[in-house]
Amino acid sequence: MSQAIAIAHSNIALAKYWGKANVEQNLTAVPSLSMTLDALSTRTEVYFDPALSEDELQLDGKQQSGRTKLRVSQLLDRIRAKADTVCRARVISSNNFPTAAGLASSASGFAALAMAASSAAGLRLSSAEISSLSRASSASAARSVFGAYVALNARALSAEPVLNPDEFPLAMLVAVTAKGPKKVGSTEGMTRTAQTSPYYQAWLDRAPAVYDRIRVALLEKQFEALGEAVEESAMMMHASMLAAKPAIRYFRDVTIAAMQRVEDLRDQGIPAYYTMDAGPHVKVLTLPEHAEVVERELRSVAQIQDVISCRPGPAAYLIGDAKVSEAK
Ligand code: PMV
Repeated sequence: MSQAIAIAHSNIALAKYWGKANVEQNLTAVPSLSMTLDALSTRTEVYFDPALSEDELQLDGKQQSGRTKLRVSQLLDRIRAKADTVCRARVISSNNFPTAAGLASSASGFAALAMAASSAAGLRLSSAEISSLSRASSASAARSVFGAYVALNARALSAEPVLNPDEFPLAMLVAVTAKGPKKVGSTEGMTRTAQTSPYYQAWLDRAPAVYDRIRVALLEKQFEALGEAVEESAMMMHASMLAAKPAIRYFRDVTIAAMQRVEDLRDQGIPAYYTMDAGPHVKVLTLPEHAEVVERELRSVAQIQDVISCRPGPAAYLIGDAKVSEAK
């Protein structure tokens, strides 16, 4: 039996991707750029065990079946093919945040799984190869293999680091607005947007220029220019979804209230900018010196359940020495 344990951190896109250039290979249609978050992580243990007749998945203490387990087995199959083994695996994974709350658990989850499983299978892969394996399961997971600020180009196989955390320390406040799993998953949402939204093509046409502005503002450490483009990227993406049939609407009243509070803070001279993914939560980008006051303001918005204060997080890593013995 061979085993390994890995930890990967979640990430939030500053420049969003929405839409696939190739569904089968899971290649993204537009470039994206994210911040890896220190406070949100997944820890995954993988044991390849010849005694198992099928893969097993335990997530946050609960045995899983159905689509969640299938997606894990599909990643394990890709690793088994590379390692030339048919051995099944036991996967034990836990998030340090509520899985069902839609806080990008697939990003940290698949990155941790790709890293732990490839190591347990005896493969010694580069970060780019682990990122590519993660991307095939969930494109945002490709970015969680790296720390701090990370880019994933359109149609790219793997993500790449853009900037170290100490070069531009920013704060991301994750305002948890509602519990429960999201109604429309990201893959389904992207397909529906591509097939039915008259604004999808406009999104594809404009997203690369917004990505470029975000990348340049980050590299030049221009916070206001960065924040403005971050909001634009998220709102353009959501506009394309809102025009789908039926509309894909992740906004709730609390989401709008949190965004309004961020705009009010800006009017008072506090630089803070919101972004939002395929769920009702609001993530607020600010400078570290303003993080405390922005967190306090978000906490005072009725219905906001929690605020998680994040800084740029580390790349995914293995814990301890993987005891790799011969898998029979
Ligand atoms: O790659 P997925 O299926 O986790 O989709 C991610 C989609 C967004 O979070 C909305 C945008 C992004 O770039 O992370």
